[in-house]
Amino acid sequence: FLTLDDVKLKNKSILIRIDVNSPIDPSTKRILDDNRFRSHLKTFRSLNDSKTVILAHQSRPGKKDFTKTEKHAEKLSEILKRDVKYIDDIFGSRAKEEIRKMRNGDILFLENVRFYSEETIERDREKQKDTFLVDELGPLFDFYVNDAFAASHRRHPSIVGFPLVLPGISGKLMEKEIDILKGANKEEGTTYFVLGGAKVDDSLYVTQNLLKNNIADKVFATGILANIFLRANGKEIGEKSLKVIKDLGYKDKLPEAKKIYKKYKEKIELPKDIAILKENDRKDIKIDKIPKKALIQDIGIETIADFSSKFNKADKIIMNGPAGVFEKEKFRTGTDELLRSAAESDAFNIIGGGHICTAAEEAGLKLSFDHVSTGGGALMKFFSGTGLPGLEALKESKKRFWIKEK
Ligand code: 3PG
Repeated sequence: FLTLDDVKLKNKSILIRIDVNSPIDPSTKRILDDNRFRSHLKTFRSLNDSKTVILAHQSRPGKKDFTKTEKHAEKLSEILKRDVKYIDDIFGSRAKEEIRKMRNGDILFLENVRFYSEETIERDREKQKDTFLVDELGPLFDFYVNDAFAASHRRHPSIVGFPLVLPGISGKLMEKEIDILKGANKEEGTTYFVLGGAKVDDSLYVTQNLLKNNIADKVFATGILANIFLRANGKEIGEKSLKVIKDLGYKDKLPEAKKIYKKYKEKIELPKDIAILKENDRKDIKIDKIPKKALIQDIGIETIADFSSKFNKADKIIMNGPAGVFEKEKFRTGTDELLRSAAESDAFNIIGGGHICTAAEEAGLKLSFDHVSTGGGALMKFFSGTGLPGLEALKESKKRFWIKEK
């Protein structure tokens, strides 16, 4: 694919997709972590003399932190030390008018692209190029830049549609992530994946592909992924833990989890104990003794010791998603200790995903990792051998648009 260094960008109109999806305080709507904003700095520097229009998302429809991108524009402006204008429109007449008025050096931040319903449907890129979003915005630009590595596992119009109608270029962050990850993706050595967090649909898909394609020697399941595997195998995980699974919409994933576990049992490591809240304190309980009313909030101490001792056998450890409710002091032990063991092992270690990176930062461990990726799901998809749709679309774009200028 083409990079920003391959193309003359001065005086051009650029549509850029970035990923600044961040933790947000639900009451004040304040952005709590600006790492993803900083990660795009170099890209914006390369676009100093262009007209730059930003497409980005915040969360998903139905979630508490699904909100406007107004604060994102303010945060970006603060970090870039440049004016960033926000408009509460995506491709309506007001957005188009603003875009047409732009001068070189101007930056315009459009509304949360997921406010537009077609954006959240995953489909082939040929279909995505015919969406209203791409039809309406595409003709206003010279180039499309994808710097949203962290969202490039999504076959959404803003990721895979635009590069089919505009010459697509990778941003600096995208380039850096791919360079580092390609280096780490060589087949040699024992590779362990430690998967947690709440996006179970993604992690089940990834687990299956990592094991099917012989990429992972072991997958260590923590967080809600572990609960689903335990439940799918007939374990009592407590009514409240089951309710969490239902509320997240993953109840129908249980049969799939059962099949995956049955097929790859030897390679999937599950917790031997977990932690719950009892009389206002953390209580670690063995897997076959979980009370009916329990809510699992972390992996247990025995599991931490077991997983950590196994990490010493790895040449590569890739971690995504926290092991428990790390936002609560009593239940961050699993996440912190697994991070510490991975960081202290001799393995080449990578972490990715908003929550686990926040946890690593808070525990003072971030600098101990060989690579801290901005991507969570995208990072795992990159390794799982199924290709990153955003990257594939950029490669296709290069074939379709031969850029003569240099
Ligand atoms: C992420 O946080 O992993 C990316 O922003 C993608 O978000 P998504 O999982 O809602 O598509």
